[in-house]
Amino acid sequence: MTHKKSPADTCVLVTGGCGFIGSHTVVCLLKQGYQVVIVDDLSNASEKVLDRIDQIVGPEAAERLSFYRADVNDREALECIFDEEPVDCVIHFAGYKAVGESVQKPIEYYSNNIGNTLTLVDAMRDHGVKSIIFSSSATVYGDPDALPLTEESPKKPATNPYGWTKWMIEEILRSLTIADPEWNVVLLRYFNPIGAHPSGLMGEDPKGIPNNLLPYVAQVAVGRRDAVHVFGDDYDTPDGTGVRDYIHVMDLAAGHVAALAWMEGRTGCEVFNLGTGNGTSVLEIIKAFSAACGKELPYVIEPRRAGDVTANWADCTKAKELLGWEARYGIAEMCRDSWNWQSHNPNGYEEEQ
Ligand SMILES: NC(=O)c1ccc[n+]([C@@H]2O[C@H](COP(=O)([O-])OP(=O)(O)OC[C@H]3O[C@@H](n4cnc5c(N)ncnc54)[C@H](O)[C@@H]3O)[C@@H](O)[C@H]2O)c1
Repeated sequence: MTHKKSPADTCVLVTGGCGFIGSHTVVCLLKQGYQVVIVDDLSNASEKVLDRIDQIVGPEAAERLSFYRADVNDREALECIFDEEPVDCVIHFAGYKAVGESVQKPIEYYSNNIGNTLTLVDAMRDHGVKSIIFSSSATVYGDPDALPLTEESPKKPATNPYGWTKWMIEEILRSLTIADPEWNVVLLRYFNPIGAHPSGLMGEDPKGIPNNLLPYVAQVAVGRRDAVHVFGDDYDTPDGTGVRDYIHVMDLAAGHVAALAWMEGRTGCEVFNLGTGNGTSVLEIIKAFSAACGKELPYVIEPRRAGDVTANWADCTKAKELLGWEARYGIAEMCRDSWNWQSHNPNGYEEEQ
């Protein structure tokens, strides 16, 4: 029988741990008793999130958290961190994520996302750390031939550099497990994470114009933007707008903790979808958010956006069977928590002007 380490004896290095999904995952890890080390360069996050994490988990758990402001591409900085901290495994969130921006800045996207992963796994190997969970995305499935998507559904060519980075990093990490059977890789393919911590203390705080639907809708609700732009109402879906599998960020965070516990003592490369298994249209989201915030949100129909697929949703049977994980929250709770966060923090982590 393999002896499993307890969370208290396990140190998890979380790259990008100040970001949207990372910060919620750090809260779940601390609540489960893990030691956590965040490495984040704050390129798309605020340091204030660290105070919010402390507030949520309380002083005792907060003692188990350390933070390094560093670029994962900085090999020397990683060297110091791995020398200093008894890292057992890594959850790798750090990367750029704006699809449209990736088309304009392919070098930055390939260099940050792929470059930092190579630097990270090289440093991990040098320090004998060979367990990694990677933030992949449903984007690797492209325009699906059949729904729901299982982990066996084919990967399709990406339609933008961001998508290619996810596609390639998956292959890079899979190659490690082929070259060296000691590597232990879990690829988590997220569907559409939304929502916020139920306390209203943490949530999504995109810099500039939000790229994703939910933060945009939330900013319309709070009066920061005029109307929601709906890209295409002539898709082959019940109401003509795109359909996605939205998942509460707290469910997603719990999925990482489940994957971490499951992978301990294993080797190889395993892929899991993390979604709810339900598809929701853009108009349904606007309606649900309107109900959550108590006012009708204005929207305008725009032409389709290049690269958007008609519909996708996940089959999450594998995660349920192997990880013992499944999503608990529905769309109403996702919108409620997102609104709770946005209404209490209309400018995100920035102070009121
Ligand atoms: N949010 C989504 O819709 C979604 C969907 C699928 C996959 N993902 C992936 O999940 C991960 C986390 O996404 P998120 O929504 O939390 O994004 P985010 O931008 O909120 O978080 C990413 C964090 O990484 C940090 N970072 C970026 N480059 C870095 C570097 N070189 N060194 C150190 N820190 C760096 C940023 O400051 C930020 O805190 C990303 O890899 C993203 O591609 C996100």
